[in-house]
Amino acid sequence: MSNNLDGAAHARFLAGCLQWSLAAAAEHGVDLRMVNAGGGLGVDHTSDAMIELAALSRGVSVPAGVELIVEPGRVLAADAGWYAAEVLDLKHNHGTWFAVLRGGTHHFRLPAAWGYSHPFTVVARDTWDYPWPRPQIAGVPVTAAGELCTPRDVLTRAQHVNRLRVGDVLLFGRTGAYGWDISHHDFLRHDPPQFVLLGGER
Ligand SMILES: Cc1ncc(COP(=O)(O)O)c(C=O)c1O
Repeated sequence: MSNNLDGAAHARFLAGCLQWSLAAAAEHGVDLRMVNAGGGLGVDHTSDAMIELAALSRGVSVPAGVELIVEPGRVLAADAGWYAAEVLDLKHNHGTWFAVLRGGTHHFRLPAAWGYSHPFTVVARDTWDYPWPRPQIAGVPVTAAGELCTPRDVLTRAQHVNRLRVGDVLLFGRTGAYGWDISHHDFLRHDPPQFVLLGGER
């Protein structure tokens, strides 16, 4: 079970795990004290949605004397990370606007691996230290592509932007799980991202 967004269906999955374990324990004379049903609690990487935990907890009843364990991964970690990448260039090719990023799938591979378009927020940066005009686009869809020499290096396809300039930053949310950890970090020896830890008060 992976990235399940349906709490009631996940409850049925956990009930099935318990049922199977109880039957197997009875058959083999095992004193069953713990069932570990692993991860799989999902988040939608394209919205704020996540698995409905109330439906999940309502739907599972655990027999006395047995402890049910789950190993939540992305549902805890996804919202704890953001990926920010500077726009290096804007180019128009075969009818599509591309924002070329200082970064890409060697930092954040999930959208390319799963074949979806990861939403971003434009963070405007007003400084422009060059003597030539600053390239910009407005009111058009843009595809966010990385700096690698492969057509698979795409994070987002055709997201509308009110305004985007070279030097602005694209901020991708929900990247704390299966982001950096599943990416091909040393692709052609491009640099890793800078890691910034935002600490709370101790
Ligand atoms: C052993 C184990 N448990 C739990 C998880 C977390 O899974 P999820 O992110 O689906 O909750 C993983 C993910 O790699 C795993 O390997």
